Amino acid sequence: MTLPATDDRNAAQIAYWNGPAGERWVRRQEEQDVLLAPVAEVLLDRAAARGGEFVLDIGCGWGSTALALARRVAPGGRVLGVDVSELMLARARELAPPELPVGFARGDATAYAFEPGWADLLFSRFGVMFFADPVRSFTNMRMGLRSGARVAFACWREPRANPWLLLPLQEAYRHVPRLPEVAPEDPGAFSFADERRVRDILGRAGFAAVQLEPVGLTLDIALGAGLDAAVATAVGIGPTSRALEGQPAQLQTAATRSIRAALANHQVGNRVPLAGAIWIVTATNP
Ligand SMILES: C[S@@+](CC[C@H](N)C(=O)[O-])C[C@H]1O[C@@H](n2cnc3c(N)ncnc32)[C@H](O)[C@@H]1O
Repeated sequence: MTLPATDDRNAAQIAYWNGPAGERWVRRQEEQDVLLAPVAEVLLDRAAARGGEFVLDIGCGWGSTALALARRVAPGGRVLGVDVSELMLARARELAPPELPVGFARGDATAYAFEPGWADLLFSRFGVMFFADPVRSFTNMRMGLRSGARVAFACWREPRANPWLLLPLQEAYRHVPRLPEVAPEDPGAFSFADERRVRDILGRAGFAAVQLEPVGLTLDIALGAGLDAAVATAVGIGPTSRALEGQPAQLQTAATRSIRAALANHQVGNRVPLAGAIWIVTATNP
């Protein structure tokens, strides 16, 4: 299915989130929501959505933060989740209780025709790092905000500050070829890791009062369910799953065994807590 308006340079990301990777993400929806609950908690706190407000949730995925926001802005307010992935949005529509003031639209945030001046808050949990031309994307999203509106989003800091992702990947690399190098600014999970770049993008898109708050997290990749669950998280989605994809079965097995042994060193009862690091980025639309 084609999107009405997109930035052609986002084509690879749009294909990625609508293909097998998108399917893998949707299969892990419940686990991801538990894993990333600490991010939702701190981001929702900083976003401080109030009753009656109108909110855009960008790259909303299956909509768990859109639903949380809708509970905060009801009654009188409304949340619109925008995402390029039909797979993610199908799950979002299934999960949304009919009484909540939330809707979902399929669109590329870079080119989507936001209703001008509609929103009081632009929000995203890990949904804004995948744009080929982020200045253009944020300039377009700003069109959907009223004057004085707030921005609050979460993005990952650099890989070495995120052992919950890096440790399994390094173990996988003992057995399978490394993923192609990506430049720090290429669209992807870590493209907003550099504070100066984020400030530059938001400033050039016309936002003011840009602040980046470093937040350290402890993410239990076992979700309280033991070592097998931790391994499933590690290989389920993200860079480690991409590194293992299409590799011969014996290499996948050897990599999974190494990952399991490395994670066992961090096991505490049924938990495997590992460090994660994000920025909470806030700004205003002048
Ligand atoms: C890492 S997921 C985060 C999903 C969700 N916000 C969450 O926290 O569970 C990134 C999301 O961004 C979406 N996305 C990627 N590029 C996009 C674009 N150009 N416009 C809108 N959404 C996009 C993907 O489809 C995906 O659902």
